[in-house]
Amino acid sequence: MTSTMIRKLNGLLRTQSLGKVIHYQEEMGSTNTELIGLGEKGASEGTVVIADKQTEGKGRLERTWISPAGANLYISILFRPEIVATDSPLFTFLASIALKETIERIGVTSTKIKWPNDIQIDGKKVAGVLTEMRSKRAMVDFIVVGIGININMSRDSIDKEMGKVARIATSIKENLGKDIDRAKFTADLLLELEKWYQIFRSKGKKAILREWTDEWGDLNKRVRVNVEGEPEFEATALGIDDEGYLLVKTDDGEINKVIAGDVSAI
Ligand code: BTN
Repeated sequence: MTSTMIRKLNGLLRTQSLGKVIHYQEEMGSTNTELIGLGEKGASEGTVVIADKQTEGKGRLERTWISPAGANLYISILFRPEIVATDSPLFTFLASIALKETIERIGVTSTKIKWPNDIQIDGKKVAGVLTEMRSKRAMVDFIVVGIGININMSRDSIDKEMGKVARIATSIKENLGKDIDRAKFTADLLLELEKWYQIFRSKGKKAILREWTDEWGDLNKRVRVNVEGEPEFEATALGIDDEGYLLVKTDDGEINKVIAGDVSAI
């Protein structure tokens, strides 16, 4: 996003609170890190940070989110829900639902949510969510939802810039064969996020977990589970529990809870 796009985004925004305050910089270490700093200084709910390029983009499990300039969206959004800290992973699910809907609305038909935070197109990753939280005793102080989406990268630039993850990555452009208006996409995404946040506030966490499970691509599928430091195993994916952990059934009938790791359909 360029500063011209941010002006356009301001004009297109139809939300009540998300994105009313936008901090934009062409280049940043990480939009999540920046917004955590603002949150610690008391930034209000709905504050958004956007960068056109990240030099230290963060992914899940201490991975790097490759964030070149001029093509994608790197955005973080601040929430101050009155919930217990252990419910914060729910915001990853809420954001995944909003992301999937926004990507589908512009015409991509083959999207899938992969536990816990990936959006895939035709089995390749197009977007990811990194939720970070600060708490006060048992309650959430604030939550930062960071979203990275490969939007207008061509196959060529994915191959050039993404190193060894290039073969498992894709972009919206690669799927649709055309450039997408990043300002309009961002406005739609923020509106969709606000909608799901309101659903969460009025109907509670069950409504989000139910929707996520409906949209999830791996329900009842055979999966390979990889948890760092443990032997890999195959199982059947059953669903998520109240805390957002993945439940899988092993071949000897045992139900296992996966807290962090990679789970891929076979
Ligand atoms: C993942 O799939 O591992 C999560 C990737 C999240 C990347 C986004 S880009 C905007 C925000 N700022 C970061 O440093 N990370 C998130």
